[in-house]
Amino acid sequence: MIHFQNSLISLLVALFFIHPLTSADKVYNILSFGAKPDGQTDSAKALLGAWSAACGSPAPATIYVPSGRFLISQAAMSGSCKSGKTTIQIDGTLVAPLGYSDADEWITFEHVDGVSVVGGTIDGRGAPLWECKAKGHGCPHGTTSLSFRDSKGIVISGLSSVNSKLYHIVISGCQNVRVQGVKISAPGKSPNTDGIHVQGSSDVTISGAGIGTGDDCISIGPGTTNLWIERVTCGPGHGISIGSLGKESQEEGVQNVTVRTTVFAGTQNGLRIKTWGRPSDGFVKGVVFEHAMMQNVENPIIITQSYCPGNKDCPGQNSGIKISQVTYSDIHGTSATPVAVDFSCSPTNPCSGIGLQDIKLTYGNKPAEASCKHAGGSVTGLVVPPSCL
Ligand SMILES: *[C@@H]1O[C@H](CO)[C@@H](O)[C@H](O)[C@H]1NC(C)=O
Repeated sequence: MIHFQNSLISLLVALFFIHPLTSADKVYNILSFGAKPDGQTDSAKALLGAWSAACGSPAPATIYVPSGRFLISQAAMSGSCKSGKTTIQIDGTLVAPLGYSDADEWITFEHVDGVSVVGGTIDGRGAPLWECKAKGHGCPHGTTSLSFRDSKGIVISGLSSVNSKLYHIVISGCQNVRVQGVKISAPGKSPNTDGIHVQGSSDVTISGAGIGTGDDCISIGPGTTNLWIERVTCGPGHGISIGSLGKESQEEGVQNVTVRTTVFAGTQNGLRIKTWGRPSDGFVKGVVFEHAMMQNVENPIIITQSYCPGNKDCPGQNSGIKISQVTYSDIHGTSATPVAVDFSCSPTNPCSGIGLQDIKLTYGNKPAEASCKHAGGSVTGLVVPPSCL
């Protein structure tokens, strides 16, 4: 009897720690709304039913997704919820439809406030679309796996996102967002599978992320301010990129971005700023890149301002994007190409206030090179390859 009581107590203790749902939260299990953990029955209606119920709850509410695979055809959740605090606690996997469609988004939150997505896996099942794109004709653009639009007070914590059809996570038009401890993975050859894309948003923090994809690990679009990125590993992928910017002639700028304590392993780029070569009133101002480790990265430090895919509508034009106050400090490791530092700025809008401090990048066992076009700034401490600013 005592033995039984002890094991009951340890079971309860274990359950409490495995599911640390705040006791005050009202819990809405999607199984009660008709979801089936069989990976085949569309559970979108059940998820949306649980969302409506949770959203109408005057007390903080948790939508609970237990273990198992839940097929979700598409789910758009919106509106301000009564309690101002809604958690989606996922232990299982949300699975996207296997085929592909013209849909831009799979799981979307729009105009929400105080929503957290905690734990679990979302599987975008992108492989058939990537194969279609590899053959190269008549394929849809793709579907973003998880997006938050025009929302605030958002937390994404401990989520894994795998094999998205297009971007894994998009934060657009949001304020006050924390993305912590996420894992993102798709093959290095999967097209346009960016890890996290942020644009038109302020006060966003991304920390403790492990990202490997076929495109940018993190991409930063127009209108991003007060972005903090810390402890991110990237690879495979195209690196952490501010850009592409300046596609539009009128565009919001990017201001106050910090990217610190990062590791890039075998990526195409490390720390990149990329703009279109065409007129624009956008800008990049106030960026700190610090404490980065490069492992065999093709372009560890790079600014390019002449992006013009397919040479359409821009050949021979200069970028209007003004880049200023960008500092690189404590950046170490190896470049996979001879040019480890490449500042190719706009002839009509030269980069200014570029700062280099404590840089040591080598090309195999040989010295690497730095290349500067229309770039000005200053150097402190030891900088290898020697600065060309
Ligand atoms: C820059 O952004 C950080 C958050 O990333 C914030 O703490 C800081 O106050 C911002 N600085 C300014 C001048 O707005």
